[in-house]
Amino acid sequence: MEGIDPNRVDEIIDRYRGERGILIQLLLDIQAEFNWIPREAIMRISERLHIPKSHIYRIATFYKTLSLNPVGRHLIQVCLGTACQVRGGPKIMDRIKESLGINEGETTPDMRFTLRRVNCLGCCAMGPVVVIDGIYHGKVTPSEVKGILECYK
Ligand code: FES
Repeated sequence: MEGIDPNRVDEIIDRYRGERGILIQLLLDIQAEFNWIPREAIMRISERLHIPKSHIYRIATFYKTLSLNPVGRHLIQVCLGTACQVRGGPKIMDRIKESLGINEGETTPDMRFTLRRVNCLGCCAMGPVVVIDGIYHGKVTPSEVKGILECYK
């Protein structure tokens, strides 16, 4: 297994030895360990538990909390729901993309940030809203973006 410690994957699989219906919990544990679900981990689960890879991929893509792509140490979510769009959300998104040199859904090469778009976080009056690692930043202006990102470097 390239890039990840295969022993960690085996240890996680061993936690559930003999139990049935544990695939989702197993994938959540893999994600907690590596911050995403590496392809190598899927291969190993499939091989050891005799679960078809296609089934594991189906589960991993169905649950939004699971990620099949590497996730950076800081997750940035930019709200582009209607209210935040009207209040300048797209400009905030553009400024973040420009500052980090990545597009929506991507992770910086240093694995520091992952950028995602979300639709309405239920606090429209605070728009445009950016959430970083669960911390809400409201009424964000393009000129504030750089300073906010610097807090996470
Ligand atoms: S549209 Fe952004 S919080 Fe509602």
